[in-house]
Parts: sequence; C-alpha cells; structure tokens
Amino acid sequence: MDRLGGLWGSLPLAFLLLLGAAFNSAPGANAWSKEGHMITCKIAQSLLEPEAKEAVYHLLPGYVKGDLSALCVWPDQIRHWHKYSWTSPLHFIDTPDDACSFTYSRDCHDQHGVKDMCVAGAVKNFTSQLLHYREGTADRRYNMTEALLFLSHFMGDIHQPMHVGFTTDEGGNTIELRWFRHKSNLHHVWDREIIQTALADYYEKDVDQLLQDIERNYTDGIWSSDVSSWQHCSDISKCVTSWAKESIQIACKWGYNGVEAGETLADDYFNSRMPYVMKRIAQGGVRLAMILNQVFGSSEEGFAAAT
Ligand SMILES: *[C@@H]1O[C@H](CO)[C@@H](O)[C@H](O)[C@H]1NC(C)=O
Ligand SMILES: *[C@@H]1O[C@H](CO)[C@@H](O)[C@H](O)[C@H]1NC(C)=O
Ligand SMILES: *[C@@H]1O[C@H](CO)[C@@H](O)[C@H](O)[C@H]1NC(C)=O
Repeated sequence: MDRLGGLWGSLPLAFLLLLGAAFNSAPGANAWSKEGHMITCKIAQSLLEPEAKEAVYHLLPGYVKGDLSALCVWPDQIRHWHKYSWTSPLHFIDTPDDACSFTYSRDCHDQHGVKDMCVAGAVKNFTSQLLHYREGTADRRYNMTEALLFLSHFMGDIHQPMHVGFTTDEGGNTIELRWFRHKSNLHHVWDREIIQTALADYYEKDVDQLLQDIERNYTDGIWSSDVSSWQHCSDISKCVTSWAKESIQIACKWGYNGVEAGETLADDYFNSRMPYVMKRIAQGGVRLAMILNQVFGSSEEGFAAAT
C-alpha cells in the first residue's frame, strides 16, 4: 500500500465503505442537488475561523482530506437505510396547504406527530450536539462526525424554499410538469433544474465558476450589505423558525404561484427564480459558517442556551 494505507487503516473500515458508497451512488431524490449542497458547504468552509476550521478538519474522516463539501450529500444517501430511517423526516417541513406560514409548534413534527422531527428541529438538535464537542471525548453522547454532516446538510435543506412546502403535494414533489423539454416536478425544479440550467447556460458546467460568482456577490456584489443581517442569530430556536419562514414565503410567492401541474416551465420561470435559488444557497452557506464558528469558537457567548 502507499502512503494512504496509514490513513485508511486509522479509520473504521465500515465508515470508509459507507462514505465511499455515499460518494459514488446516484443523487438522492429530495434535496438541493449535489451541487447545491456542495456549494453551500464550500461557502461555509471558506468562512470558518481558525478554531472551527480545526474542529471540522478533525471531525472529517481523513478520506476527504479536510473537504466538508465532499460529504454534504451523505445524509441523502443514507436516509433510506434502515439504520437511518429516523432521519428521513428531518429533510423538510410540511406546512398546511396554502397557509404560506410556518409555526414551529404546529408544523415541526413527523407524519406520526412526533415533535421536533423536521428540518428546523434537526438543525437545533445537531447544533446542540456539537456544542458538546469542546467538553472532550469522554463526555460525548453523540457521534460528532455525524452531527457535523447532518447539520451541514440540513442547513442547505432548510434554505431550499420547497423543502418548507405544502403537505398535500409533498413540497411540490407530486406536481408533475416539464422543465424545458424533459419531465420533472416542481420540487425538483428548485432542488436541481434551476441550478443545472444555470451551470449549463452561464458557467460552462463548472461548479467552481458558479461558486466564485456567488462569493463575489456576497463579498462586494449585490448581497454585500445584507450579509451581516443574514448572520444575525443569538438564539438558534428563533433562527431556525425565521429561516423556515423565509423559505415558505419564497415557496408561496415564487415557487407555487401561477404554476399548474402538466405545464412547461422554461425561460421566464428560470430567469425570475434563479436569483432566489442562488441567494438561498449563499444564505445557507453563510449561516452554516456562523453556527460552526459559534459552536466551536472559544467565546462564552453564542448558543449556550440551546443545550
Ligand atoms: C461515527 O459515525 C460513523 C459513520 O456513521 C462511524 O463509522 C464511526 O465509527 C462513528 N464514530 C464513533 C466514535 O462512534
Ligand atoms: C437528534 O439526534 C438524535 C441522534 O443523534 C436522534 O435520535 C433524534 O431523533 C434527533 N432529533 C431530531 C429532532 O433531529
Ligand atoms: C451575481 O450578481 C449579478 C448582478 O450583479 C447577477 O447577474 C448574477 O446572476 C449573480 N450571480 C449569482 C450566482 O447569483
């Protein structure tokens, strides 16, 4: 074996197999596309302060060489495995049809009514778990690597507007239509079609070019004066609620509005919705960094109250 032998040998084989499987298998059905999650995580990782950077590096398996984005789709790959079936309701929120609002106590539960089992509850859950990281190995009740990957993924999902959608149509999944010339559904249009079309039309199918454009737009472009307000968050419970509210409001106004099953969505829909998709990816990344910096940073401020 080569130099990697040592690295591989130092990690439980099952974990590596599992990561390998996740990395190679087909994209999951219901989440920001692989690209959407990867960009969210790349943005976040680029904004980490030294302590958070170090902690993230330490928690990731050596296999990914410190690249969080390589594992940001992992929760989609394992959600249908029996061992992880409890995670399935954590990817979304079903809100009452046409209410266009989110109320944590009313909406954050799974289909059996179990409280907190929704993407807003999941972000709180894995943030609280990671707060125990600094207590040291002995006190850890939870798997911190899994907590990091789940948090990173669900911060993407909570920002995908159609992940906070209506109940009957499953966040647009049952609204079948065409995207230009191929079959799709309204959920997938927001998960992946808009991103894929943007990549093909404007970025030579190169995710890094798109990432750079998004980064330019929040450093000194169209969103630069909004970034500090995106990051404002002292109580994680309140933050997840407001992020989910933002999503359902965009879903109502720009996702569902005027769309009928069976129709063809094309240029008009693409051009008017793409800016929202890109902004939500940017917000997810910036806010994921904000959480990780608070959770792993040495300041006594932050989310202590959430534990
Ligand atoms: C954490 O989770 C991974 C994958 O789910 C597993 O392979 C690893 O052994 C776990 N780590 C600990 C310390 O239990
Ligand atoms: C929180 O995470 C634990 C596993 O670490 C899981 O058993 C529980 O269902 C999760 N709850 C939510 C709301 O994510
Ligand atoms: C960045 O901003 C410009 C306008 O200044 C816009 O044309 C472009 O689509 C934006 N890119 C992304 C990825 O949001």
